[in-house]
Amino acid sequence: EEARREELRKVTELTARLYHYLLMETDHGKEARRYLEERGITRETIKEFQLGYAPDSFHFLRSFLRRRNIDEELGEEAGLLARRNSSRGRASCFDRFRDRVMFPIHDTQGRVIGFGGRVLGDGQPKYLNSPETPLFHKGKFLFNLHRARKAVRKEGTAILFEGYMDVISAWQAGVRTGLANLGTSLTESQARVIRRNAETTILCYDSDQAGQHAAERAAGLIREQGGVVKVARMPQGMDPDDYIRRRGAEAFNADVIAQADPYMSFKLEALKESFDLKDEEGRMRYLTRAIEMITELPRAIERDHYLRRLAEEFQLSLDALKQEQRRIAVKK
Ligand code: UTP
Ligand code: MN
Ligand code: MN
Ligand code: MN
Ligand code: MN
Repeated sequence: EEARREELRKVTELTARLYHYLLMETDHGKEARRYLEERGITRETIKEFQLGYAPDSFHFLRSFLRRRNIDEELGEEAGLLARRNSSRGRASCFDRFRDRVMFPIHDTQGRVIGFGGRVLGDGQPKYLNSPETPLFHKGKFLFNLHRARKAVRKEGTAILFEGYMDVISAWQAGVRTGLANLGTSLTESQARVIRRNAETTILCYDSDQAGQHAAERAAGLIREQGGVVKVARMPQGMDPDDYIRRRGAEAFNADVIAQADPYMSFKLEALKESFDLKDEEGRMRYLTRAIEMITELPRAIERDHYLRRLAEEFQLSLDALKQEQRRIAVKK
């Protein structure tokens, strides 16, 4: 109930402050500070996002909470301590997050409800996230929404990233409307939240197979909510954070975000990659698939628009494409 949730919030807030302090001010945080510095994250950004460090210990947080007379059960329910049963059947609690850079996750009111924690090197899992708790629901919240909401509403546009680091790098590059889902694929509930705040969503996912797949899925969910979707593209194998680090903030804004393609253009461009357009036969097969895709669009004005574009692009009569469309419809 609400009183219990309030207590849990106090514990997660307190822990976020502890981790942040350890990162900023202590020897424990030295390596993590260097790690973030190497990734180009400034001290100012670390403060803005209240990033932290969970020390390499099984009982650092446990002892800290104990000294403050906070019940282990509370720490456990907040997802910060984990419990294991010893061989003698006695249960004991230990710190869930160890030797990780900590990314606090906030609710819409800006209260810390959970964490993502990244290993400093190549360990597994790369990111460990808070488990589901009475406060934290992976499928419901979005990383950075409380910070970005005002700008998102003002611009009517949200930029959706795959990772926490993408949002943070983009923020540092001046992008104030970045959000990310929390280590799982976008849910319908998150799509609804995005749609409630933004008319348009720019998907800025990683430029690899997994990212493109995830973008397709997210696009479907946001369009189902009546949102307009655009897709930003980056060179193969990069994610937005890589891009910003290699090419800079200006290029990211001008060549990636500002060049985002309307959803259908993105789909049609992506489709081209499976055909040899220099070959006549390949062109015809591409056209057939493209017309099929266009035919599946829910709105007549969209179908008309893209059919016309295709006709222009391939120097064909709109009438011929429409006939082809009817042929496809009959076949189905
Ligand atoms: P990525 O693998 O693209 O990570 O996963 P990243 O954000 O680029 O991470 P860096 O740059 O190597 O630090 C994207 C998102 O998927 C979730 C995290 O939310 C991550 O930001 N994820 C990834 C997990 O929850 N667990 C994992 O082990 C890996
Ligand atoms: Mn839940
Ligand atoms: Mn990825
Ligand atoms: Mn990535
Ligand atoms: Mn990355």
